[in-house]
Amino acid sequence: MDQSNLDLARARRETPGCEKVMHFNNAGAALMPQTVLDAVVSHLQLEAAIGGYEAKNRELEATEHIYDAAARLINCAPDEIAFIENATRAWDMAFYAIPFKSGDRILTAKSEYSSNYISYLQVAQKTGAVVEVVPDDEHGQLSVAALRNMIDDRVKLISITHVPTQGGLVNPAAEIGKVAREANILYLLDACQSVGQMPMDVKEIGCDILSTTGRKYLRGPRGTGFLYVRRELIEQLEPPFLDLHAATWVADDRYEIRKDARRFENWEMYYAGKIGLGVAIDYALNWSLQPIWTRVHMLAEQLRSKLIALGFVTIHDLGVVRCGIVTFKVNGVTADEVQRRLAEMGINVTVSLEESSRLDLGSRQLPELVRASVHYYNTEEEVERFCDAVARIFREAEEH
Ligand SMILES: Cc1ncc(COP(=O)(O)O)c(C=O)c1O
Repeated sequence: MDQSNLDLARARRETPGCEKVMHFNNAGAALMPQTVLDAVVSHLQLEAAIGGYEAKNRELEATEHIYDAAARLINCAPDEIAFIENATRAWDMAFYAIPFKSGDRILTAKSEYSSNYISYLQVAQKTGAVVEVVPDDEHGQLSVAALRNMIDDRVKLISITHVPTQGGLVNPAAEIGKVAREANILYLLDACQSVGQMPMDVKEIGCDILSTTGRKYLRGPRGTGFLYVRRELIEQLEPPFLDLHAATWVADDRYEIRKDARRFENWEMYYAGKIGLGVAIDYALNWSLQPIWTRVHMLAEQLRSKLIALGFVTIHDLGVVRCGIVTFKVNGVTADEVQRRLAEMGINVTVSLEESSRLDLGSRQLPELVRASVHYYNTEEEVERFCDAVARIFREAEEH
């Protein structure tokens, strides 16, 4: 039963895409609400009409709003936020600012996202730091007890993904934060797929750095994201790249880096997207994150149980708490084929491949999975239709 009390009819009315597709690819890029679309398009129109610099100056307040909005969303201060073009670059700007040296240990999780892991490997090769994977517990989430046992003076960073790309797992971010705080170790959280889906509070989680994207559960425009860095840490982290926005050239041989989190930004940015992301965050806050999470969680559990009931689908989501991402296999049909056939029926999903998270999908021998991800504007009726469509794909494959 839906206990979110969310006005579903209004949510759908305000989402033009709901009339066109059955969108179960919200972890890819969710459907933008009309208000976000209007904000982006009207700024682009203003740029075309009066010039890009002039449009920015005229809409200065709207372009600055993202800092306040993001701060409210994750419970921090606006000067701890940087607007960055995507979650990967946001994460990179913080990670590559950490001064690793030989012997430093980086602790991460088995479910880690490939881009992050590639960066650990690169830094390890360059500096002699070592990457170590904290084992999972019996539920498939990072084992907090194992993490605690691995802590020593050499651990420089705990860096994990909250909701991994390849499934419904929600890693125990706040329990991990507790270990990090007790040991006074830097804690970097990739929250790319959790922000917008569930309530997020950096103080409760206890992370020092958090990165996220605009286009996924926040329902913002593509090409947007943001980074949070705890204020006390900002000046200790020298960004890997500097420019005249991140720093000021104060003498012929000297520059000064900004003191706020915008030191991780660069000068040119997607202003229409920046405005749009601020509007998207306001929109999410207006619904409130707890009802969004209640509904997403309920719909995903419903989808899992109905898919299992079909008898020829296996679900592969790990963890104690499972989120809006549902990964599965259909007996005898490849994930690509399921995606292709669903697309023909107007249903959007994606495929998760082993290369997006080798340690996890590799060890579970799951080279590919269908990934269906729901948002609060999806309906129970869509869940039914989705399962009917999967059943049809299975039957058709059997007949061939
Ligand atoms: C866990 C995780 N982190 C980071 C990213 C990268 O986000 P972006 O494409 O905004 O850089 C993704 C994208 O799928 C992701 O799933």
